[in-house]
Amino acid sequence: MACITRPVVAVLPAAGKGERFKSATPKQFSLINGQPLILYTLKSLQRIKWVQKIYVAISESWFNFVENLISQNKLSKVELVQGGDTRHESIKKCVFAIHAKTELDASEDDQKKGSPIVIVHDAVRPFVDEETYCNVAKAAEKYQASGAVCGLVSTVLSVTEDGFLDQALNRSVHAASHTPQAFTLDVIKTAYDRISALDLAKGTECLDLALKHCGVKAKLVPAPDEVWKVTYHKDIHAAEALAREQNVRTMVICQQGKTELSEEICRQLVSHKVEVKQGESIGNISIDAEINSVVLILNHSIEENVSAPLSESFREVYSAFSLLKDVQSTLTVVIQCHQELTDLDYRHLRDHAKKLRRSSDHEESGKLTHFVLWEENEAESATNCISKVSRLAAKLVFDKNSSMNGQVFILP
Ligand code: CTP
Ligand code: MG
Repeated sequence: MACITRPVVAVLPAAGKGERFKSATPKQFSLINGQPLILYTLKSLQRIKWVQKIYVAISESWFNFVENLISQNKLSKVELVQGGDTRHESIKKCVFAIHAKTELDASEDDQKKGSPIVIVHDAVRPFVDEETYCNVAKAAEKYQASGAVCGLVSTVLSVTEDGFLDQALNRSVHAASHTPQAFTLDVIKTAYDRISALDLAKGTECLDLALKHCGVKAKLVPAPDEVWKVTYHKDIHAAEALAREQNVRTMVICQQGKTELSEEICRQLVSHKVEVKQGESIGNISIDAEINSVVLILNHSIEENVSAPLSESFREVYSAFSLLKDVQSTLTVVIQCHQELTDLDYRHLRDHAKKLRRSSDHEESGKLTHFVLWEENEAESATNCISKVSRLAAKLVFDKNSSMNGQVFILP
């Protein structure tokens, strides 16, 4: 999608303590289905072609953590800036860093295009789509300032000092302010040059600064509900559900090409609205960066009446891991066993699961590994088992639940 011709940079305030969230870890770093919340927001901007840089305000103690996140996820557009004590201070520092850089770097061509557009977006609003960013950027190009708004959910009351109703505001002529917001660099820089000490310490609304200090009336742009902000701990549940709905792209790889089981797993995933690609055998597969989940189906069988130990199958698992090294992906290994496993097999499985759990390092990278073991037996029909195994595999892919990392599920 092309948006505007002017250069566009983003500012992400992410230096808050999240007091209302009530957790030792600030909300922007809390895990959403195994990945830090801020990573979703960073990726939502990194993937937009017309956004050139993302300036992120971070408190000093989180610099190392975010630097690792940047290198692991190849977030090439991100520049870190030390945050301030308030949201306005954090944004101001980023705006001044952009201004200093633009003064130095702007080519004649860029200058002709006009003042760059600065998108300001809270790091704790992880699910904004390209269209919403584009709508505010375009509106800022035309009107110098703009902001995403949604209708009010509840009526807003103004309250007297002693706690009585003063008046109820008319819902239809008020709106809730969200981010992204966008400004020309000239406007947002001037607004922060002139900001009062009181606003810097207590204020939170950038659109208001543009009005007060530059006389610029922001264009308000209706936005989808997904721009909502993670504020309280309960918001994590909504964020996890939304994250699951978005962006699950799975590849199903079967050791033996397509089988009844692999076909059924694909069908289950599609019914969860998961995008599925069916790969060939593991040896000749390439996994593109968009894939974020792989289901590997192994067949553990008796060949010529000689039972191979289950540990043989793990060679395939390890090659899957080396394939996934550079991909942000979870791995669900489904092992179809045509024989009863021995105690030794179980021991191997447990040891391998432990080893893989450590190497998947999920705390930092968001990678998860699960095992689903299907022991065939005569008591239950293959069709029933295939559907049970498929439902479980699809659920694991869909849920991306970090507490399930390294677990072995045995069916039927
Ligand atoms: N923010 C910031 N620097 C600050 C305070 C806030 O960069 N000194 C950022 C937050 O990290 C967040 C955004 O501004 O991404 C929106 O602020 P808010 O939701 O209020 O977050 P917190 O201030 O962290 O939360 P709380 O107000 O509950 O303490
Ligand atoms: Mg705050």
